[in-house]
Amino acid sequence: MPDDVTPSVASAVEGAPRFIVSIVGSGSIGVAFAVHFARAGFAVRMWDALPGAFDRARVDLADRVGMLDRAGMLSEQPEALFARVSFHEILFEALQSADLVQECAPEKLDIKRELFQLIGAFSEPHAVLASSSSAIVSSEFATATHARERVLIAHPGNPPYLLPVIELVPSRFTSEETVHRAEEIYRAAGSRPVRVRSEIEGFLFNRLQGALLREAYCLVRDGVATVDDIDEVVRNGLGRRWAVIGPFETVDLNTRGGIVAHAEKMGPAYERMGASRGQHDPWTTDLVAQVEAERRALLPLDQWDERVRWRDDKLVRIARALQDASHAETENVIESVPSPLSREAP
Ligand SMILES: NC(=O)c1ccc[n+]([C@@H]2O[C@H](COP(=O)([O-])OP(=O)(O)OC[C@H]3O[C@@H](n4cnc5c(N)ncnc54)[C@H](O)[C@@H]3O)[C@@H](O)[C@H]2O)c1
Repeated sequence: MPDDVTPSVASAVEGAPRFIVSIVGSGSIGVAFAVHFARAGFAVRMWDALPGAFDRARVDLADRVGMLDRAGMLSEQPEALFARVSFHEILFEALQSADLVQECAPEKLDIKRELFQLIGAFSEPHAVLASSSSAIVSSEFATATHARERVLIAHPGNPPYLLPVIELVPSRFTSEETVHRAEEIYRAAGSRPVRVRSEIEGFLFNRLQGALLREAYCLVRDGVATVDDIDEVVRNGLGRRWAVIGPFETVDLNTRGGIVAHAEKMGPAYERMGASRGQHDPWTTDLVAQVEAERRALLPLDQWDERVRWRDDKLVRIARALQDASHAETENVIESVPSPLSREAP
């Protein structure tokens, strides 16, 4: 089975930085990446085009790192982490010695094209040039630089220091070596890279999120549910399971007999639901067989019961953690209300 924990990055923190990362654009994702990479022991060099951006970035960095520290999620003092993050007024300086450039500028094609032209010209010849772009595919701006074989998308979950998945989306110009190097660097940072095999809009993360959102909007529009009803079903239902397993493993474990049994029982109902929204993408026998083969390679059926117990054990831990968090929240609220006994007499 794929390992289900974020790799420990503590060992990388000792000694010289394993990698140097340049962050181009120090807004919300830029800062979040700075936290993520610096926490893994990397040296981080920040740059931004707009004056004043660093003032906000420094405050945000301190805030996020402080939160991780209070949660016991740092393996060193915050000051040691801050010491690895530097701020540069000049792009060329921020790019010096960087093994990875993580572009985090606004989602606008002309900005990305202009930046990649500069990044391609001034970065180290071995550097991976990654864009955090959520929707624009990299072949649209990789052509702005002669270093196009080093350009790819590395789209994070937000924030990357808490959501380890990162989608790597090469374009037709990206070299295999660049993808391997990117995988190596992100893994060393504690990320979980997933390679997307074609330049599809929204990649995987936002396509899956989009499918759910499209249906949610329809249900609200048709008066079937309120906004909070939908959020409740995900918060206390689907989402709890998705914290430990994905949609394919969910249905594989929900039905004895796995994917094939689930597709037989539920396939026609899902087909009708799709048809009611004008969608016709049947789960053909071949497609179900392909999904079944991939799942069986990950989980032979003779380990099915054991895996169901594993899932339930994870859900128990999550339920307990959420319960503790909710108690802590209640206690904080009670603590912040002054006791009548401690109030001074008027
Ligand atoms: N916010 C998210 O949830 C999220 C998640 C994944 C990916 N992304 C992607 O990350 C990228 C950055 O998004 P964000 O939410 O951090 O945006 P943001 O607006 O918070 O930050 C953008 C930063 O870029 C700077 N900037 C403006 N023009 C620039 C230029 N010409 N060159 C360099 N920097 C410039 C701004 O000063 C700002 O600091 C986008 O491509 C976005 O789609 C965002």
